[in-house]
Parts: sequence; C-alpha cells; structure tokens
Amino acid sequence: MRNPIIVALDVPKANEALELAEELGPFVGAFKIGKQLFVSEGPDVVRKLKGKGAQIFLDLKFHDIPNTVAKAVQSAIDMGVDMLTVHTAGGSEMLVAAENASNEKAKILGIDSPLILGVTVLTSMDDANLEELGIQEGTQGQVVRLAKLAASSGLRGLVCSPQEIKPLREELGDEIQLITPGIRAVSNPADDQKRTMSPAEAIKLGASWLVIGRPITLAANPRDAAIDILNSIDPELVSFS
Ligand code: C5P
Repeated sequence: MRNPIIVALDVPKANEALELAEELGPFVGAFKIGKQLFVSEGPDVVRKLKGKGAQIFLDLKFHDIPNTVAKAVQSAIDMGVDMLTVHTAGGSEMLVAAENASNEKAKILGIDSPLILGVTVLTSMDDANLEELGIQEGTQGQVVRLAKLAASSGLRGLVCSPQEIKPLREELGDEIQLITPGIRAVSNPADDQKRTMSPAEAIKLGASWLVIGRPITLAANPRDAAIDILNSIDPELVSFS
C-alpha cells in the first residue's frame, strides 16, 4: 500500500508551504496546492514543491470550454503536477478533452498520465442550493449522476466526501480512485467540516487517498501528526516512510 495522505497546504505564502513540505515530505503521499497559495505565489511555488518527496496535486477545479481546459491541463503538467481537479459539471466534452490532453502531454514527456480528478457537487451545497440552479434530484442523486458522467468520459478519479465512498464504489467499481477530504481522527476538532470520518474508516470503506489539512498543518508537531495518522491506518506505512 502506498502512503495515502494528501496534505492540504492551505497557507498564503510560499515560504510557509515550503517549510511544511520539507518537514512532511517523507511522511505524506502528496501535497495539495489550492487557489489561495497558487493565486498568491503562482507556478513558481509548484516547481519549488516538486522534488520535496511527495506528488503534487493542483486543486484549481477547472471549469471552462473544452479547449481552454485542455490547454490549462497541459500547462499544469508542464509545471510538474501529478494530479489536478476539474468540475464534472463542465460536461462530457470538457472531461474527455481534459483526459485526452493529459494523455497526450504525458506521451510527449514520457511520463505516466497525470490523474484528472472530477469534482461533483461541492460539499458546501445542499438540496436547496441545487434547486436554485434548476436541479431537482438532490445532492446524492446529482453526485452519482456526475460521477458516472466522469467515469464514462474516461476520468480515472473523483473527489468525494467520506459518505459518498460506499455508493460510488458500488456504482463505479474498484478501479476508480476516490479522493476524500473531511477526514478527522476522533481527537481532532471538526473545524468547519460537518460530516467527518476517521482516516482508518475512510480507507476501510474504499478511499484511495485522504486529503488532510488542519489536523496536520496546525498540529504542534505536523510530522508527528502525520505519523500518528499513518499508524492508525497501517503501521507498516510508517516503516516505509
Ligand atoms: O483542513 P481540512 O482537513 O478541513 O482541509 C481539507 C481540504 O480539502 C481543504 O483544502 C478543502 O478546501 C478541501 N476540500 C474539502 N471539501 C471538499 C473539497 C475540498 O474540505 N468537498
């Protein structure tokens, strides 16, 4: 089993991100760079984080016309990104374009094709928010609909809440990679996450990767926090780090 922790580097400045990466690199599987860090520091921070011992996950949730998303995917791969997100609500043509762009670029560079991850319904949205958009079938129904659209468009991974792991595994099988935020150990504060699950539970249910931010980045000792989480999943993961 590979290290399933994706640590969310939700900090405003490159120096903070780089310090965390230096400390955590050997103990996590990937670093997630979101809009805050990327908008403030740009591609330079991505290049600097590359080579710190973990994969790079660029979480910018692309949603645009197919050609624009395809070009953005290729620019992300040029920066050294291993995983990135797109909104499945962009539709099948956009999703196919994103996946094809990743495969084409990877072929040119002679690397494995970076993982394009589909975002379904944001966890900040509820049934009433969807109704405002003219979607009547509720969040669960919409998540499954968009997840199936992503899979049939060739995407190999999805971001989902811990509660969605089971229905999505039942619907889409074992191959698709499921990336899950909202992870909290019993001893962690929930912060603003409303529906949480422990790291071990989420892995047991079928999560492929766990996105974990504050329980690691705000811990008194981030490295020890990451090691504790690995131990709770499988102590062998610590000896491989
Ligand atoms: O600090 P915490 O562990 O809550 O961080 C979770 C990370 O996952 C944050 O970067 C957050 O933006 C992201 N995320 C989330 N829920 C989603 C999608 C992404 O919490 N549905």
